Amino acid sequence: MKRRVLSTRDTLPGGGLARLTSRADTDVVSWAGTGKPEPAELAALAERTGGVSAILALGNDRVDAGLLDAAGPELRVVSLASMGFDGVDRRAAAERGVVVTHTPGVLAETTADLTFGLILAARRRLGAARDSLHAGVWELFRMDDHLGLDVHGATLGLVGYGQIGRAVARRATGFGMRVLHHDPFGPAADGPSTPVELPRLLAESDIVSLHVPLTDSTRHLIGPAELRAMKPTATLINTSRGGVVDEAALLRALDDGTIHSAGLDVYEREPRGADVADLTGRPGLFALPHIGSATEATRAAMVDLAVDNVLDVLGGRPARTPLPG
Ligand code: DGY
Repeated sequence: MKRRVLSTRDTLPGGGLARLTSRADTDVVSWAGTGKPEPAELAALAERTGGVSAILALGNDRVDAGLLDAAGPELRVVSLASMGFDGVDRRAAAERGVVVTHTPGVLAETTADLTFGLILAARRRLGAARDSLHAGVWELFRMDDHLGLDVHGATLGLVGYGQIGRAVARRATGFGMRVLHHDPFGPAADGPSTPVELPRLLAESDIVSLHVPLTDSTRHLIGPAELRAMKPTATLINTSRGGVVDEAALLRALDDGTIHSAGLDVYEREPRGADVADLTGRPGLFALPHIGSATEATRAAMVDLAVDNVLDVLGGRPARTPLPG
């Protein structure tokens, strides 16, 4: 009998999804709506098809206990085409014996590239400079126009020192930066960086960059007290998950000069639609729409690895990249 895989999207970058749909032993049932599916919509689809053995989902999809139950007793794996896994009820999956996998490794370098883009954009105030050019108000070269802060030679503090944090650290050495890191999930000492406790990292860093997953212990890891502990000339960068930062406190800190600037790719509420008034018009804030891993090659590699995880688990083999325990 054919096994069924529920894909939360009907098109995905690269050839991974086609590799799955072309298999003789697999039926792929795809959610074909626009936007992001609610768990109840996916549950209804899974039930209509008579249950599924695997769910192939994106990092921002929610996979809750109701969806896991609707998928039925054959469900073996929830495979995320993402590094982040905060949308999945991990406890409910474990209780049902369902493996959850994600796609570390393949996106680390691309996300580190974008992190450096944000560091440069926020510290050198590239958004405001570009906006003035586009608005047609650049009349004259001035010595005191659009002054930012240097990136080369700065101290970079990495909160989280997994694959992405280390990839950022490697880039920082090319900018002559001193690199510190603090990893809330345990000691990690290799790479060109010095491990320190969070208070020291916040006090000494010119740039604080976040590279931790969103969990109960990292939610609002950076709040009013942590922002006050940073230098007034500091820049906060977030390419991890919006919920790691208390966003309202960050916007206040930018407005009252507690810190110099921020570069954000992720937000507490996503997607934002037209609700972006707080992300525009602040010269110290450079904001992007969650594009950390968005290159053609990397997104294709993420889908490929997610499909490999589905095939491995359904084939009775260990998943290549299960979530860390
Ligand atoms: C990730 O891989 O976690 C990205 O943020 C996309 O979800």
